[in-house]
Amino acid sequence: MQCSIAKKYYKHFKGTMFQKCTLTQVQAMDIMIAGRECIEKIFAEVLGAEDALVRNQFISGTHALTVGLFALLRPNDTLLAISGKPYDTLDEVIGITENASSLKAFGVKYKQIDLIQNEFDVEKIQEALKKEKIKLIHIQRSKGYSSRDSITIEKIENVVKEIRKIDKDVIIFVDNCYTEFVERKSPLEVGVDVIVRLTYKELRRRNCFKWSIYCRKREICFTCSRKTYISRTRQRSRTNSRCK
Ligand SMILES: Cc1ncc(COP(=O)(O)O)c(C=O)c1O
Repeated sequence: MQCSIAKKYYKHFKGTMFQKCTLTQVQAMDIMIAGRECIEKIFAEVLGAEDALVRNQFISGTHALTVGLFALLRPNDTLLAISGKPYDTLDEVIGITENASSLKAFGVKYKQIDLIQNEFDVEKIQEALKKEKIKLIHIQRSKGYSSRDSITIEKIENVVKEIRKIDKDVIIFVDNCYTEFVERKSPLEVGVDVIVRLTYKELRRRNCFKWSIYCRKREICFTCSRKTYISRTRQRSRTNSRCK
């Protein structure tokens, strides 16, 4: 039987990767680096990511989502939201509500396709992909403040297949806040490229690392880390030897 995501976490933390020695055999700056790289490795493995940013530097879900979007979108790119309007706090980030530092002000175009009775409008999505080059597709799994249902992994898997028939490169970006433990698979396991989530609200640990970005491909994670000026320059092998 397939393991639930919660069980996978338990297995990885209980296993040999994140041991006390990781934190005691190293000093000062090294403790922080070894610890966070181990944590990122564990979370990435559980969620099926090549790489992850699990950092206190993200101060909210909106911040992590903003970092991901601003890192991956450049002027003249198009962002297409296919599960209707994203979470309310992203209005000003995208430019749905005017804001001088929004993606829109930066030159990023925004398009939206609403769900039809809780289903993706596959026809419209494919039409939009054929009509112009879309850089990033946004999906929000949980309903947020809207009255729709949350989106299942099965629906995401199906829509990803339909998207990939038209465009193999478009970045599929999922706001996974609040939906991590509701199913056995993570969106990354069904072909999504990036997920953003809240670690601390879901794991219910006050001192736990907070918001995070997970990427199926390592290059995307590096792009996001550059955007936040998060250090990724140290050799992972140094830490990995302590994480075994
Ligand atoms: C789906 C979704 N996206 C984004 C956010 C934003 O998170 P934060 O309130 O930490 O900025 C939330 C918050 O509840 C959310 O439910």
